[in-house]
Amino acid sequence: MTPVLQATNLSKKFGARVAVSDVSLSVSAGEFIVILGPSGSGKTSVFRCLSRLEDADTGSILIDGAPIETLRGRALAEQRRKIGVVFQQFNLVGRISALENVVAGRLADTPLWRVMLGRFAQADLRKSAEALIAVGLRDQIHQRASTLSGGQQQRVAIARALAQESRVLLADEPVASLDPEAAQTILTLMRDLTRTRGLAVICTLHQPALAQTYADRILRMEDGVMSESAR
Ligand SMILES: Nc1ncnc2c1ncn2[C@@H]1O[C@H](COP(=O)(O)OP(=O)(O)OP(=O)(O)O)[C@@H](O)[C@H]1O
Ligand SMILES: [Mg+2]
Repeated sequence: MTPVLQATNLSKKFGARVAVSDVSLSVSAGEFIVILGPSGSGKTSVFRCLSRLEDADTGSILIDGAPIETLRGRALAEQRRKIGVVFQQFNLVGRISALENVVAGRLADTPLWRVMLGRFAQADLRKSAEALIAVGLRDQIHQRASTLSGGQQQRVAIARALAQESRVLLADEPVASLDPEAAQTILTLMRDLTRTRGLAVICTLHQPALAQTYADRILRMEDGVMSESAR
């Protein structure tokens, strides 16, 4: 089976500091991978390279077998949609509704003012509402994002990835700001989505116990180097 995402020999330096050192990893549809590693070990840097917020110094990234380094313009936007992101700091626009946040993700090329004026297609609205219902937010669809709880905001971010039909979800410490119960809810949701929708999840965590509970595979990072971890 072709991995959904395959990164080979990624390296990234900031000045003299090696943040990512020759990292290779791949994730398949339906798989939940957890990355554990101390602060500063390079976990976020790997995610920034994978989502192309940062250009790696070396290495290659394939999505569904196609290289993404060379893509530009619309083709790049299409590939980017395939990678959804959830961060520790809830990355929603606070003053607009849950639904508008999800629509905005679906219409990555659409300026925010158009979203705020409600100028988008019914099909985008329907897909976005379905995604919110899928993550259990039927009653919060029209609620302003800033008034949602932390766990609800993370669910909106997950819904955004679903609505934009991402194949891979990169979740960088998605539960670090949540209480233990909300953390379990979010991790359970993400794992269920790997099973029901074939989503591929790569998630960084700080708690080994949670990794043991949820991960199909655990990777460890130390000083920029990634290794497979025995369970
Ligand atoms: N933009 C940048 N400029 C300079 N150095 C950076 C930059 N981004 C990351 N680094 C450095 O790269 C190393 C890896 O950082 P990174 O944020 O990837 O670690 P992390 O594993 O995500 O840590 P944490 O668990 O604290 O989130 C650190 O030494 C960090 O200071
Ligand atoms: Mg980090």
